[in-house]
Amino acid sequence: MHYGDTRPDILTFDPFKAIIAPRPIGWIGTRNAEGVPNLGPYSFFNAIGNSPHMICFTSDGLKHSVVNARDRGEFTFSLATEALAQAMNVSSEAMPDGANEFDKAGLTLGTSIETDAPFVAESPAALECVTLSVTELTDRTGSPINRFMVIGQVVQTHIRDEYITGGRFDTVKARPISRMGYRDYATVTEAWELIRPDD
Ligand SMILES: Cc1cc2nc3c(=O)[nH]c(=O)nc-3n(C[C@H](O)[C@H](O)[C@H](O)COP(=O)(O)O)c2cc1C
Repeated sequence: MHYGDTRPDILTFDPFKAIIAPRPIGWIGTRNAEGVPNLGPYSFFNAIGNSPHMICFTSDGLKHSVVNARDRGEFTFSLATEALAQAMNVSSEAMPDGANEFDKAGLTLGTSIETDAPFVAESPAALECVTLSVTELTDRTGSPINRFMVIGQVVQTHIRDEYITGGRFDTVKARPISRMGYRDYATVTEAWELIRPDD
């Protein structure tokens, strides 16, 4: 099977996100203009650079996280884990500007160091970021598509001490969750090592 812009009828739903899977979840913390905390998950998300550390997320339309990251110039990422899956899901509900998803999901505000953006204190790891750019994406004809990509530079890394094992962040212990297609998620439950030819 192959197809271009028109999906064959046999595919009931668009498999795109099931193919590009698993995707890490950017659980994005911001404050609105009045300073009210905001939290939402974004799976069009990833790390995009190592030196300096940079991450990005993309929003369908100008959602609160984008507006807040743009207007206040900062945001946080919190690692979404199996233990926090329900809270992550609660925080995805569309709510009016000024609704505090931390309260709604029963989460604690972490204390940020270099920004005023809140993160999830219960999460094993979180990143404070300064917003570098907010860009509306365009399609191949150059037309704007009402999708907004936010790029940020990490300025503080928070790790809960119990997730450091032998000098490393213990990803398996944290049990991060990731998005697949449809309503499917995956959990990191094991790791395996592959030494590079040049190592
Ligand atoms: C796991 C998960 C991943 C999501 N990923 C995205 C995404 O990449 N882009 C997007 O626009 N919405 C995404 N959503 C929906 C947003 O989380 C939802 O619209 C939320 O209300 C946005 O919050 P905000 O307006 O406070 O930023 C996702 C929802 C879930 C549950």
